[in-house]
Amino acid sequence: MGQIPTTAEPPSARTSDNQLLCCKSIDKLISDAERPEHSLKKTLGPWSLTALGIGAIIGSGIFVLTGTAAAGEHFEAPSILHAQVLDLFANFVRTGSTAGALMHGRPAAGPSIAISFLLVAVACSFAGLCYAELASMIPIAGSAYTYSYATLGEIFAWIIGWDLILEYVVSNVAVAVGFSGYSKAQLAAFGINLSDKWSTPVFAGGHWTGAYFNLPGFLIVFVLTVLLVRGVRESAKANNIMVLIKIGAIMTFLVVGGMLVNPNNWQPFAPSGFAGIVTGGAIVFFTYIGFDSVSTAAEECGNPQKDLPFGIIASLVVCTILYIGVAIVLLGMMKYTTFASGPAADAPVAYALKMLGAHPFFRSVIVLGALMGMISSILVFQYGQARIWYAMSRDGLLPKLFSAVHPKFKTPHWSTWIACFAVGIPAGMVDIGDAADLSNIGTLFAFVLVSLGVILLRRRQPDRKRGFKVPLVPWFPLISIILCGGLMTGLTVITWIRFIVWLVLGLCIYAFYSRHHSEFAQKA
Ligand code: ALA
Repeated sequence: MGQIPTTAEPPSARTSDNQLLCCKSIDKLISDAERPEHSLKKTLGPWSLTALGIGAIIGSGIFVLTGTAAAGEHFEAPSILHAQVLDLFANFVRTGSTAGALMHGRPAAGPSIAISFLLVAVACSFAGLCYAELASMIPIAGSAYTYSYATLGEIFAWIIGWDLILEYVVSNVAVAVGFSGYSKAQLAAFGINLSDKWSTPVFAGGHWTGAYFNLPGFLIVFVLTVLLVRGVRESAKANNIMVLIKIGAIMTFLVVGGMLVNPNNWQPFAPSGFAGIVTGGAIVFFTYIGFDSVSTAAEECGNPQKDLPFGIIASLVVCTILYIGVAIVLLGMMKYTTFASGPAADAPVAYALKMLGAHPFFRSVIVLGALMGMISSILVFQYGQARIWYAMSRDGLLPKLFSAVHPKFKTPHWSTWIACFAVGIPAGMVDIGDAADLSNIGTLFAFVLVSLGVILLRRRQPDRKRGFKVPLVPWFPLISIILCGGLMTGLTVITWIRFIVWLVLGLCIYAFYSRHHSEFAQKA
């Protein structure tokens, strides 16, 4: 096991009589992080951070969800659980009842999914600016968790940390399942057929499938964990290479797929109007998750004040351009209704290329690049996950084991291994289906709290040095809160219920464990 602090922690002042509202001092956060037994190697620069961001952002979402979001979803049996919260609310306000809400699934965005990508990018940019400001003034591992501990108080920090666990674990489960699906398809193209019993979800669409375990999904997480435990320098280098490969693969798709476009497929452009665009946005928001993980690397970059904002914004810009390109080309290749179900829904890019007779060499280049994209996404999320647990443990909210640092590799090895099994085992069992939605709601909630944190901190500590400042505060953070909150209402009732259950579970853990182990509890 790694080194555990043996010297007493320096005392920190209580900022409130109520433990739930106690905030960490930013100076103390920085000095704690600099204690030798906790310090991590500083090896990342602006371009490595940008690559880290792109590595996390482009995963399975663009290759799986673009088709589904364009085609919409239709369930045979109507259920309020499938209704969108916004739609229910709008119907209730209009008619005094929810009977008119769409209960059969979600409306199709069609080719207008390209607009959804743009809208979501705008929402993410506002949230990204808020992340950048907090990351540049609180350059500490832990991302939104740490920021909320310094700004909103312990209970909010716990909620956000617990929420981030949901974001990171569930989205990586989804990406690992996507990896399994694409790798199985590619191996089949090479003549290697994996047994369905060992390469498909055990539980899908509300049913047991008869499969034993989705081994490729678990194995990829396990192998990447070994890499992460050995050290961030090696991992960042591997990530840089994978990022170049996946950008190359997407560019190849834009060229090869672009030559197969039939402009008639772009009509009708927005079959469900604005409702389809917003619903599509709530789904494809998943494809942007990841840029916030750049800020979790704050303690491992040389000049966080300048490098973090650069990494966050640069990775968002690159991904937005690529995503809109993929959406326009894919929806020009085939009618959006094609992607409603079956192999066309599971792997729309591969399906469209195959159906329109693209050369097998280019198809393999694109699918292998997609797999690389998924690998680098899993890598960065596993990295960020372990560091959030590390930060929560350093504050006493999780057991000390989570902040143990490997004596040789200087990485939080226990957290990294625990994250491996927390993601790998569900990835071996569940379907990609609802995982993305659950991850979306957790992330959007984190964005709302981070934006709120910027406004509060500007009032409470206006003179503190900020390497990067959000323009027009409080308006930009408020726009971020409204846009992210709006996207949350585009999600379904079942997703909201799952999210609330998760938060309640977290509050129980806080009440029975964390509250008694926090540094503020010791001084009460
Ligand atoms: N943004 C990541 C993806 O699309 C989670 O897979």
